[in-house]
Amino acid sequence: MSIDERYVEGLYARDAVLERVKEGIASHGMPSISIADGYGRLLTMLVRMSGASKLLEIGALGGYSGICLARGLGDGGQLLSLELLPAYAEVAKAHLTEAGLGDKVSYMTGDAKESLNRLKQEGRTFDFFFIDADKEGYPVYLQYALELAEPGALIVADNILLRGRTTDEAKQGPAVLAVRAFNEGIATDNRLESTILPGYDGLAIARVKG
Ligand code: DHB
Ligand code: MG
Repeated sequence: MSIDERYVEGLYARDAVLERVKEGIASHGMPSISIADGYGRLLTMLVRMSGASKLLEIGALGGYSGICLARGLGDGGQLLSLELLPAYAEVAKAHLTEAGLGDKVSYMTGDAKESLNRLKQEGRTFDFFFIDADKEGYPVYLQYALELAEPGALIVADNILLRGRTTDEAKQGPAVLAVRAFNEGIATDNRLESTILPGYDGLAIARVKG
């Protein structure tokens, strides 16, 4: 975290629920790569401000961002979270349940691309997407989000900067190339209006026009 990010985080009261989730993630041997606290607060605000009620998350990990998303939902709003590993989805579900949000979330496990294809076949639509899964998949996840989006839907994605790798020309691996392509799509696709926040590890925020 930068000095400025640390300063800003220091202004906020500790969030016992989210601290407990981070401990739970570590205690299950899962990677400590949940979204930054400041972006978690932003997710809650974006859901609440947009009035979104049909949320799709790609990449649950241990439920940290799921809690932030579900906190912004009004009555009847639902979060569907796609997670590769059933064991991670179990941990995430337990954490949302502990947070009193278990009735607002459901999980689909396995390859997110297969789940997304199934959702498309079923004609499902969503008004908020949060992408935070394998980085190689980001361009495909963006295309699915555009296909599943209702007019005005928000598409938010974590790790736009890949801890410096995105801007390091020497880095040409598949994840870096995919995130660069994703970022260019966010910035230039005529179907979107967008911005990219370079704080923490970078966050893309796009709105599907219409
Ligand atoms: C890392 C961080 C993330 O937020 C993520 O989704 C994947 C990887 C990382 O720091 O390696
Ligand atoms: Mg992430």
